[in-house]
Amino acid sequence: MRKLYYRTMRICAGVWAGSIMGPPSAGRGQWLRWLMSLSLFMLCVMMYIAFSNMSLPPVIQMGISDWAPYRTHPLKDKGWFERTCLQGTGPLGLEGIPDVIVDWRHSKHVECRDLYLTFIKLLEVRQEEGSVDLPDPFKVKVRSWLANDNSLFQHIYDQRMVFIRNKYTREENVFNPLRSKRPLPKLEKPERQYIEELSTQTKEGCDFCRYHEYTARDSLGRVEGLHSFTAANTFKLDRWHDLVLLKKHHPINWTQEEFLDLMETLLKWFEKVNQADQNYVYPSAIWDLLPHAGASQVHPHLHSFMDKERYQGFQDQWREAAMRYSGDFPKRNYFSDLIQLHAIMGLTVQYGSAVAFANIVPKKDNEMVIVSERADRDFFLLWYFVLRGFLDDMQNGTMCFSSGAAFPSMTGDTSSQSLPAYVRIITRGIVSDNRADISSLELFTTPNANTDPFHVISVMKESVLK
Ligand SMILES: *[C@@H]1O[C@H](CO)[C@@H](O)[C@H](O)[C@H]1NC(C)=O
Ligand SMILES: *[C@@H]1O[C@H](CO)[C@@H](O)[C@H](O)[C@H]1NC(C)=O
Repeated sequence: MRKLYYRTMRICAGVWAGSIMGPPSAGRGQWLRWLMSLSLFMLCVMMYIAFSNMSLPPVIQMGISDWAPYRTHPLKDKGWFERTCLQGTGPLGLEGIPDVIVDWRHSKHVECRDLYLTFIKLLEVRQEEGSVDLPDPFKVKVRSWLANDNSLFQHIYDQRMVFIRNKYTREENVFNPLRSKRPLPKLEKPERQYIEELSTQTKEGCDFCRYHEYTARDSLGRVEGLHSFTAANTFKLDRWHDLVLLKKHHPINWTQEEFLDLMETLLKWFEKVNQADQNYVYPSAIWDLLPHAGASQVHPHLHSFMDKERYQGFQDQWREAAMRYSGDFPKRNYFSDLIQLHAIMGLTVQYGSAVAFANIVPKKDNEMVIVSERADRDFFLLWYFVLRGFLDDMQNGTMCFSSGAAFPSMTGDTSSQSLPAYVRIITRGIVSDNRADISSLELFTTPNANTDPFHVISVMKESVLK
């Protein structure tokens, strides 16, 4: 095709040269010939236009489609599900899921069948069993690890691993409930005391506390609120990459008002970047709290990003997963279906227009996901309540966290090019632990979060209602 194109274009160039030489002054035949080359030339122009499109690499339009409308208020809850779809499987819990699926499959109820299909379209559950044999001296030791609880100890010989996989995001987690019963490392001091001391020690030389003198700015200057401000990241990870910080140094003693102010500053920064550079439309943010969760400074700070082509890394994988899902099931919205599935298992908690769920496929310990169609006040409040749930109400290893948030596209577009407002939060273990909680499992194989989503949600429901 290309060869034909170039050959034609060479002939055309000849014709063009002939036609611009202009009509010769004498002879009817000459005129006719000139007219013919002119029409040939016009034909060439048309062909050029047609062929040149063909010679360019094709523009790949990734199937953009509209999401089906969001539904963050699930219609069906756990009570309805247990009454209507199950016939006698025990209370819903992590270890019971494989049995629930078997029971559920037999339901003849139309809505139960629809939900069952949604479940198997989206998630895959498999169970493995394994056993070990222990030499006598080791038995004593293992028994003591399990607080000499005999029924727990019997499970050593009959271990059940539950793998749950999200077929669209391709994330997976393996739970072995017995692993979570292993003792926690001995704490030298309570976590709160450790944080209090760390906060005092680091306050003195903190650059973020003296941000006017010790933080960078970019061409847009700073956004400043009553309790928060932005600073450019000195070593950038993207064209638009800033820090959004609280003015207060203390890593966990921030209030609802301060948190909302921080989020308002974040949104203002997104606006400002988008106004200055309108091609940049995909906003996102990450937040690690405390050194054990990867934070380089104790002073609380988020990283904010604005991107042009797509959301950052894994976040765009969520968008792609949702896009593939709505491609496979056109009238369905991936996020609504995911939330509905969590709701019937009793794993959601609602706050106004926002919903939070304890992810059944956690990326790491205690994952909570908060979703709202827009980054509105309800979304931020629910985010705050969940964080306070980890910091104040849950115990042992939930006082440092990592989190990633994405926000709807700045273009206002609601197609599959955009994500809803969402944040994923995982906890990172004991704040003073010098072992890393992330290993080759999370990096290369199947993550192993043993925290039970059914326990996480029971704590969070109380924290949100408080
Ligand atoms: C932080 O809050 C805790 C609990 O409310 C309190 O005991 C502690 O004194 C506070 N720390 C500071 C520096 O205000
Ligand atoms: C947390 O740890 C403390 C001791 O460090 C223990 O007394 C308490 O029972 C633990 N709480 C939970 C919920 O495991």
